[in-house]
Amino acid sequence: MSTVNEKVALVTGGSGGIGLACVQRLAKDGYKVAIHFRSRPEEGEKLKDAIPGAETFRYDLSEEAACQDLVKDVKSRMGRIDVLVNNAGISIDQLLPFAKPSDFDRLLQTNLKPVFLLSKFCSKMMIRNKSGSIINITSVVGHTGNPGQGMYAATKSAITGMTRSIACELASYGIRANCVAPGFIETAMTSALAPEVREQLLSRIPLRKFGQPSDVAEAVAFLASDQSAYVTGTTIHVNGGMFCG
Ligand SMILES: NC(=O)c1ccc[n+]([C@@H]2O[C@H](COP(=O)([O-])OP(=O)(O)OC[C@H]3O[C@@H](n4cnc5c(N)ncnc54)[C@H](OP(=O)(O)O)[C@@H]3O)[C@@H](O)[C@H]2O)c1
Repeated sequence: MSTVNEKVALVTGGSGGIGLACVQRLAKDGYKVAIHFRSRPEEGEKLKDAIPGAETFRYDLSEEAACQDLVKDVKSRMGRIDVLVNNAGISIDQLLPFAKPSDFDRLLQTNLKPVFLLSKFCSKMMIRNKSGSIINITSVVGHTGNPGQGMYAATKSAITGMTRSIACELASYGIRANCVAPGFIETAMTSALAPEVREQLLSRIPLRKFGQPSDVAEAVAFLASDQSAYVTGTTIHVNGGMFCG
């Protein structure tokens, strides 16, 4: 269903996987989508042509200044930001005794700090508009834990705590903040899993299948929309029943 909607949604990491599904789903709802990406500029340009009203923005969000520059750039080219989907992220998995402090720093710089900075810069605009929806993509492992994912889970749990706090802080300005916590979703991030690991994971998923990026995008579209007007400070779990929160 397409609706007339002059609202602008910024999706980070929007050129592939879950981010691309969010871009497509929000565009279907009539949002003008600001598609952030980091690599593969040719894919970015193709997306801009394929999605009416979309603009593309290329930044490496692990560089601190990039977050402020991205928000300024979206504002100057698209006028406003109504919905922020903090989706960009990486996973670096290692058992604790072998985990490198430099990898932990990289995860914090890529997964956590940009969520803080982008929320901070977008909130100023949203406060002026007295409305907005911030949607942070976390992970089931931030709730359940998983061997070898302590560093990654730390970033995702931190986002959950930050989201709850900013939801309380921004509610009086009409701004909502929520998380979507995917389970195991078929994307580049999970494509490298060994067959035996996939089998073992599947046995832990009651619905006995991995999720699709579109499954996550549906939850994001709900949280972006007025249908979730009374939903803030919470997490929607999209994980085939692995964990219910
Ligand atoms: N797939 C799953 O099973 C799963 C489960 C739970 C949570 N998640 C979360 O869902 C989100 C999307 O993951 P995905 O599975 O769709 O993975 P993906 O296909 O690997 O996408 C990750 C995105 O993050 C972007 N990114 C990475 N480092 C960046 C940086 N320094 N600056 C800017 N952008 C950067 C990538 O941009 P480029 O490609 O342009 O470099 C890419 O678009 C992540 O936050 C992930 O933690 C995924």
